[in-house]
Amino acid sequence: MSETEQNKHPEKESATSRRSLLNKLWILLGIVALAELIGLVFAFFKPRMKRISKAERDAIIVAGPLDSFLPDTVTAFVRGKFYLARLADGGFLALSRSCTHLGCTVPWVAKENKFICPCHSSEFDITGEVISPPAPRALDIYQITIENNIVRVNTSKRKKRSEFTSGQITYPKNT
Ligand code: FES
Repeated sequence: MSETEQNKHPEKESATSRRSLLNKLWILLGIVALAELIGLVFAFFKPRMKRISKAERDAIIVAGPLDSFLPDTVTAFVRGKFYLARLADGGFLALSRSCTHLGCTVPWVAKENKFICPCHSSEFDITGEVISPPAPRALDIYQITIENNIVRVNTSKRKKRSEFTSGQITYPKNT
């Protein structure tokens, strides 16, 4: 069509350019829909993301079966650096081995039924409560979970506390 002919039919030209614009719009919408579909398919087949990191998983120490801890006993765990104390009433506390005075490792002295710090002689009872200063506060604790009769201690977060309270004890569900 010559220029003179086009100028003769401006409405025809305008309809053609509108159709072309609509076609482009449809193509664009098709691309967006296809991209979304690909994203959905990818998300469906992609392996599920791990909810906890490897470091967090490693920080969870499997202490062992419930029955392997007798009431009124303290068990030391080298990995995780904590003591698992089972109280006389069957409850559990996971205690940090670090003295709250200046951080020395505090051993459990079974024959005296208490923790005695070798550095400045602070003493703590089985709950980690201070019974003799200079330690300014109770031993730190870790979170315990008991599932299917297995005791686990999460050593990723050490919780500071000023003193022992009964709310810090973890009990087996059927006790
Ligand atoms: S570090 Fe334990 S009493 Fe000083």
